[in-house]
Amino acid sequence: MSEHNAVSPRSLISLDGLVVARDGRLVLDAFSWATRRGEHWFILGANGCGKTTLLEIIAGYLWPREGRVHVLGHRYGRVNLADLRRRIGYVSPWIFNSMDRGMPLCRVVASGIDASVGFWGEMIPVLCRQVRNILKTLGIAEFYDQPFGCCSSGQQLRAILGRALINRPSVLLLDEPFAQLDISARLSMYSLFSCLVNRPRAPQIIMVTHHLEDIRPFFTHGMIMRAGKILHQGRRSAILSPATLKKAFG
Ligand SMILES: Nc1ncnc2c1ncn2[C@@H]1O[C@H](COP(=O)(O)OP(=O)(O)O)[C@@H](O)[C@H]1O
Ligand SMILES: [Mg+2]
Repeated sequence: MSEHNAVSPRSLISLDGLVVARDGRLVLDAFSWATRRGEHWFILGANGCGKTTLLEIIAGYLWPREGRVHVLGHRYGRVNLADLRRRIGYVSPWIFNSMDRGMPLCRVVASGIDASVGFWGEMIPVLCRQVRNILKTLGIAEFYDQPFGCCSSGQQLRAILGRALINRPSVLLLDEPFAQLDISARLSMYSLFSCLVNRPRAPQIIMVTHHLEDIRPFFTHGMIMRAGKILHQGRRSAILSPATLKKAFG
């Protein structure tokens, strides 16, 4: 089969036979997975099973030792990753922790333009308008000039999300996005995401979480990982069935 035919044209993400080692230890092992347009996926699994590693591979920050990665029809190794990354939104604890606390939210959001952490360019009028629109959609328009470090965890998450959304990505990777939020901020993020996924050209959402309540009704599919492999994957109802959860988590 030719390489072209190996990936379904409907696949947004397609991973084939990935082997990833870190510090000489296998972290992903013969890992194959595909997502299709219209699906939103949650990923569950114990700490250390390779969830963040998986997202880093998809975002093009980490390279597998073996296997193929296709995202949005492009094969990694044969595509300009800096360009492709503009179409992949990423919200991760690393981005959170790397953000300059003194940077105003408008610049945090603007840094998504070239998928960098921190924006040192000029806030030209067209960019200001774009950032204002996103901050408004995310309900934090009044914090445009507020330093990142002076915002609540909920506002910070919205800004990091704005950064991820500024290029209208086709895929949005979320790594334990709600971990720092209290109940009220969490509920408000749930409403926000329920609105976002219904907007035209909404991205496919891939979310790692430890909390079943984070799995809002719009998630269509799920995966449970264990020790660098997929233990279960399929439609949400099958993955969230008591029998599957019991088998996976005891
Ligand atoms: N930067 C790193 N260097 C070396 N090993 C790492 C690094 N990040 C993660 N690991 C190891 O890779 C494995 C998977 O980690 P990770 O993908 O972060 O798991 P998860 O997100 O499921 O908790 C763990 O054993 C972890 O210790
Ligand atoms: Mg992780």
